[in-house]
Amino acid sequence: MGNAARNAAKVVALMLSGIILSSLQTPVRSYLYNNRYAGDQVIRVIPHNDGEVEILKSLYEQLEVDLWQPNSVSIITEGAAVDLHIDRNSSGIFRSHLQQAKIPYKVLISNLQKEIEKQSGSRSSRKRRSESEYDYEVYHSLEEIQSWMHEINRTHPHFVNMFSIGQSFEGRPLYVLQLGKKSRRDKKAVWIDCGVHAREWIGPAFCQWFVKEALHSYHSDPVTRRLMNQLYFYIMPVFNVDGYHFSWTKDRFWRKTRSRNSKFHCRGVDANRNWKVKWCEEGASSHPCDETYCGPFPESEPEVKAVANFLRKQRKRVKAYISIHAYAQMLLYPYSYKYATIPNFDCVESAAHNAVLALYSAYGVRYRYGPASTTLYVSSGSSMDWAYKNGIPYAFAFELRDTGYFGFLLPETLINPTCTETTRAVKTISTSLLKKCS
Ligand SMILES: *[C@@H]1O[C@H](CO)[C@@H](O)[C@H](O)[C@H]1NC(C)=O
Ligand SMILES: *[C@@H]1O[C@H](CO)[C@@H](O)[C@H](O)[C@H]1NC(C)=O
Ligand SMILES: [Zn+2]
Repeated sequence: MGNAARNAAKVVALMLSGIILSSLQTPVRSYLYNNRYAGDQVIRVIPHNDGEVEILKSLYEQLEVDLWQPNSVSIITEGAAVDLHIDRNSSGIFRSHLQQAKIPYKVLISNLQKEIEKQSGSRSSRKRRSESEYDYEVYHSLEEIQSWMHEINRTHPHFVNMFSIGQSFEGRPLYVLQLGKKSRRDKKAVWIDCGVHAREWIGPAFCQWFVKEALHSYHSDPVTRRLMNQLYFYIMPVFNVDGYHFSWTKDRFWRKTRSRNSKFHCRGVDANRNWKVKWCEEGASSHPCDETYCGPFPESEPEVKAVANFLRKQRKRVKAYISIHAYAQMLLYPYSYKYATIPNFDCVESAAHNAVLALYSAYGVRYRYGPASTTLYVSSGSSMDWAYKNGIPYAFAFELRDTGYFGFLLPETLINPTCTETTRAVKTISTSLLKKCS
């Protein structure tokens, strides 16, 4: 065949495959998650006095409402925004109650199903890149993330070691990547976990991004090289594997683990309330159906127990614990469970300050930072407080973008800027471990 003929044949083949594809796609057009979010809305209310707080709380108790922010009804306070996901059946009555009480509200997402479909549509129409070029600017399913981990482990033997620290409730392996130039075993270490709460999809995307950046910029960026030479990073891209899988297949807004309870039909425990530090006190719920359920006992969740065991074993080497959450744009440090100042406040505060400046330097995005109890709210049984109490001197929790416009549905176009700026902050925190701070 000549060139022209070959090209013509290619065009015909392309057209044919296009026709076949579109005829295949049209009849099987189906809705994600069984269309369960059709007509659901996300609204923001800011109660301005105690009366409005009470009205909001009682509406919450009566109607089918899912709190996006804050995550427990007990911490609704005047002057602070409350983001609510309202079921289509309750949306009319909820809004008319607000109107009657003259409480202003703003619709953040007017049709949740549409927003989910829109985001997923832009995902599938994206040009497929060559197989060797992994796409870090889309959200990946658990299976994709795990095969990516195997691939990274296979292709970077001098920098990566992948291992499992246990099994989830549903029997999935709990994989961790050790990242850093393989040399002395006793290097200082930084632990980073993502995906503790299933619906916060930007978390796992960040963990993957961070690994990619570290490997790609080792030769070009002296700061990365220094960190990779002098530290090990232990990175757990998906902490709550069962929940993450469930949020891809059944309920996009699932938060907890997937463990079963003997007395209640509700499943799952809040993996960030299940740690043995003031367990199940203020800011946690003892009711299995609540989003902040602390579990039947500390470390009841196999995922929490596995990470706690690893950190207990490595406590001499692990100098920083970093947990990636969303959304609020905050960098938090202990304590979460009480209003008190940590003993090494100056060191931690200055690391946080520098991290937030580094983050800002990328795109001018502002993060609030400070002790979790005063900056966000009081919560007991958190991993960050536990890590700190267990002897890890630098313990942080990030709440990534945004501040509620998209909330948990942060569009994929924002993965790159969000992860780029967060990488700067995490590198800054890691760099502070290499300096002396008394
Ligand atoms: C909403 O109402 C419809 C019709 O009344 C009902 O079939 C559906 O189960 C309700 N949805 C929820 C989530 O309660
Ligand atoms: C990761 O690679 C190492 C070899 O570099 C291998 O020994 C190890 O089993 C791999 N990890 C997993 C989970 O496959
Ligand atoms: Zn979270």
